[in-house]
Amino acid sequence: MTTRPVKKTASAEPTQPKDALVQPGQQPRTLEECRRCALWHDATQPVPGRGPRRASILMVGEQPGDQEDRAGEPFVGPAGGLLDRALADAQVRRDDVFVTNAVKHFKWYPRGKRRMHKTPAQREVMACHYWLEKELASVRPRVAVALGATAFRALMQRADVRLTAMLGQAVRVGDLIVVPTYHPSAVLRAPDERGRAIAYAALVDALRRAGRIASGEEDAPPAAPGN
Ligand code: URA
Repeated sequence: MTTRPVKKTASAEPTQPKDALVQPGQQPRTLEECRRCALWHDATQPVPGRGPRRASILMVGEQPGDQEDRAGEPFVGPAGGLLDRALADAQVRRDDVFVTNAVKHFKWYPRGKRRMHKTPAQREVMACHYWLEKELASVRPRVAVALGATAFRALMQRADVRLTAMLGQAVRVGDLIVVPTYHPSAVLRAPDERGRAIAYAALVDALRRAGRIASGEEDAPPAAPGN
């Protein structure tokens, strides 16, 4: 883990014109040199995926949070704690899973001394798909779990897919099976105990299903039309 001093600027107060920060067609060799969108500017460091080189399940979150931005590793904060618990309850070993994010830089805005999460724009998700594609090509998972709507849109490469319409299902995209479910932060943010329990159960079910498909215990779904 490389904890670095935290950046003190935020995109709400750009120090240079935005155009100077971005090279949308860039094909960077490393995440450190990525300028495909402007998010690199205010983040402390990029946060690459983590896990075994060949994992049968790849999990995609939205973007690093405050703690991940400092640590340089995905899912090390409260959402990561909940994800670990859900994986254990689903009897999926964390060591069998590669964990990453749709967007590799923390997007935030300042509130006093705090850095508040800001949802990435679809153009930022698409710019960062360059890196998700590389991770998918190198890990070659059988199943990808989309943790939340941003991850689902990134994996489907479509802005019009709705997480709520696909919860509890699995969808084939080429050779990859995508299992969409709630983001662990959505479970943590549920307004009451009952809502939290329902969302957590749905998350555990999706992880269990991903585990069964990855191990061949459950049949993969047929290809969706157009895929
Ligand atoms: N939320 C995410 O989507 N990813 C992380 O790495 C941490 C929190």
